[in-house]
Order: sequence, then C-alpha cells, then structure tokens
Amino acid sequence: MVRTTWAAGRERLHAVRHAVFVIEQQVPEDEEWDAADAQCSHVLALSGNVPIGTGRLDRNGKIGRMAVLKQWRGRDVGKRIMQELLDMAREQGFERVYLNAQITARSFYERFGFIAVGELFQEANIEHVRMEKAVNAQRAT
Ligand SMILES: CC(C)(COP(=O)(O)OP(=O)(O)OC[C@H]1O[C@@H](n2cnc3c(N)ncnc32)[C@H](O)[C@@H]1OP(=O)(O)O)[C@@H](O)C(=O)NCCC(=O)NCCS
Repeated sequence: MVRTTWAAGRERLHAVRHAVFVIEQQVPEDEEWDAADAQCSHVLALSGNVPIGTGRLDRNGKIGRMAVLKQWRGRDVGKRIMQELLDMAREQGFERVYLNAQITARSFYERFGFIAVGELFQEANIEHVRMEKAVNAQRAT
C-alpha cells in the first residue's frame, strides 16, 4: 500500500480508475477527473510495480474513488486501501469521515463501521447514499 499525491502518482492512479470507472462502469471522463484530485491524499495498491487499486481522502474528510481492478477483487485489496485511508484520516486529525457509496458497495463500507445517512441520490447515473464514520484515535481492528 503506497501513499501518494496526484502529482507523483497520477499515471498509476489514472490506469486503475480509467479501467474501473470509465471503462467498466461507464462514468463519463469529465465526471471522473476533477479538480479535487490535486488536493487529495491518495492511496495506491500495487502488485509488484503494477497498480491494482486506488482510493483518496480529500481535505474535508471525504473518502472516494475506491477502486480495485476486477481481476483483483475479493482478495482484501479494497480492505487494505480503506484501512490506509482511515489511518491517514486519523493522522490528519479528522474526527469523522464520509463518502458517497455506490449502493452496491454499501455493505462493503458497513464492514468498516460506515453508517448510511439521508436519501439515495444519483451521481454519474449510479445510485449512491452518503455514509459516515467516526474515526477514533485507535484503529478499530
Ligand atoms: C468495492 C471494491 C473497492 C471492493 O474491493 P475488494 O478488493 O473486492 O474488497 P475486499 O476483497 O478487500 O473485501 C473486503 C470485504 O468486503 C467484502 N466485499 C467486497 N466487495 C463487496 C461488496 N460490493 N458488497 C459487499 N461486501 C463486499 C468482501 O467479501 C470482504 O469480506 P471479508 O473480509 O468478510 O472477506 C471493489 O469491488 C471495486 O473496485 N468495485 C468497483 C468500483 C466501485 O464500485 N467502487 C465503489 C465506489 S463507491
């Protein structure tokens, strides 16, 4: 698990997100790439030198762009990305983090203690729900 910035990790972050969001999920490119990337702390999962997963934490405590290449799913890569993002959030002094979960990933986030709040909404033509979690000084598990 590698922590990186958009400036340093752009090419490798792009490779994973393009495959997962743009190609697989058909998210329009102009919605996938936003100005927040330059402001975020990023996590990159690697297999050797090959990028296989991503996630980001923005300056408001919002987690996003959780993606694992299809052939790597179900092998704890997403879990390790999330643990790293939560560690970063604690280190940066956040008391709460939140995210907009795709409805199909909701139970993935519930495993980490995220709780859904509010109504469902559409983002990039995919149904989402906001989820929040208090982050404590100590890692939960
Ligand atoms: C969601 C995603 C990042 C999970 O990554 P992953 O590497 O497959 O997840 P892990 O293997 O680390 O799974 C951790 C645990 O969550 C479970 N899990 C994984 N995906 C799940 C899902 N969609 N729903 C419910 N549980 C899920 C796993 O079974 C595992 O449980 P275990 O600890 O009891 O074995 C990945 O499926 C993905 O990239 N999906 C496409 C992009 C996407 O939808 N991103 C979310 C945007 S909000």
